[in-house]
Amino acid sequence: MTSVPDPPAPHAGPAGRGRRGWWWVGAVVVLLVAGGVVLAGVLEHRSWVAAVARYDAQVAEQADAAEESLTRVEAQEVVHPATLAAVVVTGRTLLAASEGQVEDPAVREPLQSALDAADALRENGVERATEERTVDALRRPNPFRPATRPARHVTVVTGISPAPAELDDAASAVAASATTVADAQQQWAFDGLQAAATDGDPVLTESAGLVTDEGTRTELAAALAAARTSLDAGVGGVPVAQSVAERDAVTSATEAVWSDRLARTLELRRQQAKDSGIDCTVQPCVALTFDDGPGVETERLLQVLAEKHVPATFFLVGRNVEARPAVARAAAEAGHLLANHTWDHPQLTTLDDEEVRRELERTQEVITNATGQTPDVLRPPYGDVDDRVRSIATRTGLRVVLWNLDTEDWRTRNTDETRRRAVEGARPGSVVLLHDIHASTIDAVPGIIDDLRAQGYLLVTVDQMAP
Ligand code: NI
Repeated sequence: MTSVPDPPAPHAGPAGRGRRGWWWVGAVVVLLVAGGVVLAGVLEHRSWVAAVARYDAQVAEQADAAEESLTRVEAQEVVHPATLAAVVVTGRTLLAASEGQVEDPAVREPLQSALDAADALRENGVERATEERTVDALRRPNPFRPATRPARHVTVVTGISPAPAELDDAASAVAASATTVADAQQQWAFDGLQAAATDGDPVLTESAGLVTDEGTRTELAAALAAARTSLDAGVGGVPVAQSVAERDAVTSATEAVWSDRLARTLELRRQQAKDSGIDCTVQPCVALTFDDGPGVETERLLQVLAEKHVPATFFLVGRNVEARPAVARAAAEAGHLLANHTWDHPQLTTLDDEEVRRELERTQEVITNATGQTPDVLRPPYGDVDDRVRSIATRTGLRVVLWNLDTEDWRTRNTDETRRRAVEGARPGSVVLLHDIHASTIDAVPGIIDDLRAQGYLLVTVDQMAP
């Protein structure tokens, strides 16, 4: 092949070349703009997708948080108040049960305060504490593809009011003070049982051969053995109710032994009287009794009674015996019956057990020491007596004897009036109330004795009187 020269190039002037150049520039610009628009669209879309993803995540997170906290709070609002409620019931029961047992305010009051505080805390029930949480609304700023997501509000339960810790603290406070009360109650029960056993032991020993019914002693021995076993277990060794029951068993068995012993003593005295010709079951008897001495007039009374050969019963006040032991001894030596009229003449029913016991025991002691005669008869001042005082008296070895003819000598302080009331009021079996601390009474006694004898009465001591 031979080479052919190139055809001549078309005519191209400088102006034609310039128009073609601008077209290219325009095309490139258009392409760049189009590309930019597409790129911006893509970026905007990505950002929207990312924003929606964040929005969805927040919504999901809130829902989870709400659910989780609800589960937690539902458990809290059941467990903590229930624990507190149970402790409060226990504390309240204990406080009521220990009334009259645990008296010390320093022990009782903390429990009462803790219970009050728990009540105040529980007064309005348990409420849920909540918190509003929001996921902000979302708006796509693209005018060609508008889109929105709404604002989302979720109520999250964050806890309970009162807080679990508050409820637990209140429960701990009640429980702690309840433990103190329970310990004190145990101590009380132990002390009571020990005191009963301490009282019962000598009664069992000293009553050997002195009772009619050995069964009462067997019962006391059994009650004491049970008490010893419980006492050996120490404070809190047995339930409070058991200690109380055993204490009561010992106390009533002690009382039964003493009752038996006192009845037997009385029976023996009546038999002795009968042997010496005094039998108030067939003879009309009157007992003259003199209360509140020994006093300044008592020696004069003893002379009158000696001259008339009349036995009387003296209800002695312990502190007066302490002041005039020789007069008390003279009364005992003259063959009169000495009896207990308490230490300082209180109304026994107004005193507590320990005080009653002390009134009686101190008087027994001072009379025994002064005269060698231990009373087994008690006249409570003012005739003020109830079952409790009677029971304590029996356990102190004392039988209660009141009166059935009041001369009111202490009120009238009139010799004739005293004599008239004693003589006109007398019946077979009369126990005449007189007071050897008044001169007017001593002055009335010779006439009373003469008048009663003239009416055929036999003058005796109260233990010789028919039952
Ligand atoms: Ni009196």
